Amino acid sequence: MSRTGGKAETDSSSAGSERLAELPIHSETSFPDYRHEVERVWNHNSAYWDSSMGEGNDFVNVLCWPAIEKLLSIQPGQLVLDVACGNGLTSRRLGRLGARVVAFDVAEEMIRFARKRSTDEDGEIRYFVLDANDEKGMAKIDEGKFDCALSNMALFDMAEIEPLFRSLFGLLKPGGRFVFSMMHPCFNQASSALFGEREELDGEEVMTYGVRVSGYMTPTMFSGRALGGQPLPQPYFHRPLYALLNVGLQVGFVLDGIEERAFPSTHPPGRRELSWGPNFSEIPPVIVFRMLRP
Ligand SMILES: C[S@@+](CC[C@H](N)C(=O)[O-])C[C@H]1O[C@@H](n2cnc3c(N)ncnc32)[C@H](O)[C@@H]1O
Repeated sequence: MSRTGGKAETDSSSAGSERLAELPIHSETSFPDYRHEVERVWNHNSAYWDSSMGEGNDFVNVLCWPAIEKLLSIQPGQLVLDVACGNGLTSRRLGRLGARVVAFDVAEEMIRFARKRSTDEDGEIRYFVLDANDEKGMAKIDEGKFDCALSNMALFDMAEIEPLFRSLFGLLKPGGRFVFSMMHPCFNQASSALFGEREELDGEEVMTYGVRVSGYMTPTMFSGRALGGQPLPQPYFHRPLYALLNVGLQVGFVLDGIEERAFPSTHPPGRRELSWGPNFSEIPPVIVFRMLRP
């Protein structure tokens, strides 16, 4: 059975036609043959990502960050690892909260933008290039033990996650926490499609918005564009909740916090009726977990 899915974009703009190669798949949650493809695509898209994303979009500002801030509850002076930091937008937010931040990404170009954007006002941040699933490289992070780790909207971009969870267990202090936000694997994934239905009730026109999901159980690679107009589609790795969470639980983490995040019904409407926004206030496109290292 193929576990490579069709194209399902988080934004429907589909400029460019380069396709991702179909590569073999090895285990329930690992797609190691895609590691270099991930790095290549993110390096290629980094300038577009940096100029479009800047210091954060609605997904970051409204959905991810309030939950991250709550679950991390950073205290000034704490040592925080920002895993797959991209252009460093969360690293700077952490730095401004008073954390001492160590941040890395597999894409060298992303780190170039992260360094360029960061100023003294962003506090203490050290950036470097590293694959989060390079266990030897992770073991060399020589900063002492971390109070917490964050990965904002990146685990589904990683071809593997088991080595990362193993490394984090070693890098965190006892009592340390790992917070990670994700596209919600139930509602915002390869097989999900947003729909709107119009009906007449007692002479009134009523719109109902929802999500149709036709696949979930099978870990799948699919390609899509995180940002409309992005030069290359990127590989995404869908992992159902059991597969995703068991990776952390099996190395000894304890799940101790969870937030599901939807746009409020009062959020300003987006460009399109059928895009994540106020019409879908009952359905969360983002989920955020906290795992504790006992
Ligand atoms: C959607 S972006 C999110 C970036 C950032 N966390 C943010 O909130 O803006 C995903 C990032 O994951 C990075 N990435 C993917 N696989 C990685 C890996 N194995 N190790 C480190 N970074 C990785 C990509 O290079 C990209 O910068």
